[in-house]
Amino acid sequence: MDPITVIAAKRDGGELSTEQIREVIAGYTSGGVAPEQMSSLLMAIVLNGMGRREIADWTAAMIDSGVRLDLTGLRTVDKHSTGGVGDKITLPLTPLVASYGLAVPQLSGRGLGHTGGTLDKLESIPGWRADLTVDEMRAQLREVGAVVCAATADLAPADRKLYALRDVTGTVASIPLIASSIMSKKIAEGTGALVLDVKVGSGAFMKTYADAAELAEAMVELGADAGVDTRALLTDMSSPLGRTAGNAVEVAESLEVLAGGGPSDVVELTVALAREMLDAGGLGEVDVAENLRNGRAMDTWRSMIIAQGGDPDAPLPAPRHTHVVTATGDGHLGALDALAVGEAAWLLGAGRSRPGDAVSYAAGVTWHAGVGDPVRAGEPLFTLACDDESRLERAVERLDDAVQIVAPAARPGPRVLGRV
Ligand code: URA
Repeated sequence: MDPITVIAAKRDGGELSTEQIREVIAGYTSGGVAPEQMSSLLMAIVLNGMGRREIADWTAAMIDSGVRLDLTGLRTVDKHSTGGVGDKITLPLTPLVASYGLAVPQLSGRGLGHTGGTLDKLESIPGWRADLTVDEMRAQLREVGAVVCAATADLAPADRKLYALRDVTGTVASIPLIASSIMSKKIAEGTGALVLDVKVGSGAFMKTYADAAELAEAMVELGADAGVDTRALLTDMSSPLGRTAGNAVEVAESLEVLAGGGPSDVVELTVALAREMLDAGGLGEVDVAENLRNGRAMDTWRSMIIAQGGDPDAPLPAPRHTHVVTATGDGHLGALDALAVGEAAWLLGAGRSRPGDAVSYAAGVTWHAGVGDPVRAGEPLFTLACDDESRLERAVERLDDAVQIVAPAARPGPRVLGRV
């Protein structure tokens, strides 16, 4: 296989054969295909797309670049979000679903850019560790039912390498590339069922409902072809979820949900996803909020944190500096831009610019009003938290046009917009 022929075929709008896809992915993983050649092919895919057969072949080639986990004997169901701002749902959802007797193998990632990473959030808990061996993960799934950990390096290594390249070549935002990236990892992970949370709006990769629905359909089809019962909810990411974006602040907010409280949109989405997961896992209709009320989900959370070396009672890291931004007028919050809030949290140090950068666990943004809430001039709108004071100025600036204050009360819409 000559990579230039493959690039030219896609550049000219052609369809790649199964063989070409298999060889180009294997070649890139082993180093035979150069990064500049792969970047060129990725850009051709971004511009000209791929058909369903090509997406299935691309996904299969990425799965075959590594190992597949064997989780047989466990009743597994997993959730994956396409990424959003303030998206802490994995934290309450994993123990909630496990508390009903299912095994939830939540292999998660770290944040890059404006969307936060589940592992960064959990690492703000003293002692907690993300790196487990496959045997440790299996044992924890049997004993606790819930595990949130980093994917091992041998799981879809082609995707790991490709994702890093896409991130620096402007080739992330492509439905075929996102669908194959997510589904190769999920199928290789060995879960029996999967619920996807496909985000739509300013803080998401997919800005329109139509694009999000196309992505959801592509992923549901890839899952079904691999024998994984896959469903998707399309959910709103035009405003950030809950009241916090960052690391420790999101853990604290998740604990409120596990204690039966928390912001209503976080509870709404946690319950909606849990309902789908319990159904996909074969439990049918269950009163999903019950284990939030009776403390069972919290008990599973504590067991999950302890099993991974964490201390669930230890205080979370506190910031060295905080800064309050106040409202400039009276009215109601008409809009709160997810992208601006996510970027402000990132500028404060909650996220990283390059893989491997250290994050600040205490950094983040808290907003004191959600969409539809009344605001009054001079009252706190945002609290910004960081360890490095020099980061404050740009983060405050980024929030300058993040809100619209309107006269009539704007009613927040539902988080769940559709289902595939
Ligand atoms: N998440 C992934 O795992 N891959 C993508 O391409 C986008 C989001």
